[in-house]
Amino acid sequence: MKVWIPHETGVDLLGEVPAGVTVQPWTDPANPPSDPAGVRFWVPPFLAAGDTTAMLDRLPDLAVVQLLSAGADAWVGRVPDGVTLCDARGVHDAGTAEWVVAAILSQLRNFPAMARAQARRDWAYDLVTPTDELTGKRVLIVGAGSIGVAVRARLAPFEVTFTLVARSARPAEGVHGVDELPRLLPEADVVVLLVPLTAQTRGMVDAAFLAAMADGALLVNAARGPVAKTEALVAELTSGRLRAALDVTDPEPLPADHPLWELPNVLITPHVAGSVRGLLPRAYRLVGGQLRRFAAGESLVNVVVDGY
Ligand code: OXD
Repeated sequence: MKVWIPHETGVDLLGEVPAGVTVQPWTDPANPPSDPAGVRFWVPPFLAAGDTTAMLDRLPDLAVVQLLSAGADAWVGRVPDGVTLCDARGVHDAGTAEWVVAAILSQLRNFPAMARAQARRDWAYDLVTPTDELTGKRVLIVGAGSIGVAVRARLAPFEVTFTLVARSARPAEGVHGVDELPRLLPEADVVVLLVPLTAQTRGMVDAAFLAAMADGALLVNAARGPVAKTEALVAELTSGRLRAALDVTDPEPLPADHPLWELPNVLITPHVAGSVRGLLPRAYRLVGGQLRRFAAGESLVNVVVDGY
């Protein structure tokens, strides 16, 4: 059986490869490493979409697509019947949770304004103080999966209070259902989006959602751009009533002439939350485990069902 992976270094990072399995790095999209026939297990490049999903039609023997991303939205509905789609749940918990903490602290402590002042060589104490602070804030985490839980663990020492929201309520774990958002949003100082992009979550952050947020609240999007309606976001953020930290946007990449770039209350990073140096070792540990399970005829973990 052939396995295609997107990094040369992945070959060593996989760990033990079962007998009868040939691992081939596929790093140049224009040049597949061998005949696509016989490829049973494919790991597409991290955050690949569009053209890469078209490759599915060229792999006649495919049985498993193992993603390196936590989000599977680019692949859901595109994988042929009979092919199992697995995501990288768990691999991005630390990296993405760190980004969320960094983004919240940056915005609340006014770091973007200070970086702008530094670029002007301006000791702008009076301009940038007093800053807001994280201590005492009420944090609403929308998306109570493994990254949401990791964010809660990392924010806990900052003396904040938490509310977690998932697709449906899990009262035993203190998790609320999305239907409760209209009641919960006005009570939050920081709203963190960590939901997968599905038919249900697309456009979830609309004008009504934003209007329900408290004055001065911070919206943090580490999910997917289309979870928020960009027009509504631009309108609310242009008024200056809310602040935002966005690692993802719609469209993405954000075009240079987009109005979001101009807003002083918005911090934008180019979809980097998961792109840390530890990504590949963590990701290939998962891939290696999946490969050994697959070769042994065992059930795979992280199988994507209904977009989750
Ligand atoms: C992911 C991401 O889905 O980093 O893993 O966006």
